[in-house]
Amino acid sequence: MAIWRQPTSSAVSPSFVREGVGIGGPFMLTDQNGGKVSDTQFRRKWMLVYFGFTSCPDVCPTDLLQITRLMDLLGSDADALAPLFISVDPERDTPEQLKTFASNFSPRIVFLTGTPEEIKQAMSAYKVYAAKKEDKASALGYTVDHSAFLYLMDRDGKYYAHFAHGTPAEEMAKVIKEAIKP
Ligand code: NI
Repeated sequence: MAIWRQPTSSAVSPSFVREGVGIGGPFMLTDQNGGKVSDTQFRRKWMLVYFGFTSCPDVCPTDLLQITRLMDLLGSDADALAPLFISVDPERDTPEQLKTFASNFSPRIVFLTGTPEEIKQAMSAYKVYAAKKEDKASALGYTVDHSAFLYLMDRDGKYYAHFAHGTPAEEMAKVIKEAIKP
């Protein structure tokens, strides 16, 4: 898809991309404490939206550790950012499962799941791809291939930029500090 093309002239970082037409939209999900969470709750903050699943062997933990580090690097600016992790594996990722998983990462990250329909709607809003497939090498017997972008959304819930999987926290902090300046 054209919106994922590699940036050619980003002054900030090669993993920072400003193109993302039509990304974002409403969602109503359930957090790791069982509370209902909607996108409109974050209107006075920026959101950093990431989709993944708690049994992910490598990709999701890597990015969540960078987000954890990012929140430390942001210092007092961290209050302006709401990092959200949305499960693409709602059957397995119950709120209880999210809560256990969340304990590995920054307590500022909101972990979200929902019914398959609710998740489908959120994925569709963010144009996220995920496909469950058999994986005999995994203890669970399956894995979920999924796109792994970190979407930075502004205070109006509108797309601002996205970062590629594996973007170091330092690079994200630079972009985000600049973006959230009043
Ligand atoms: Ni993952």
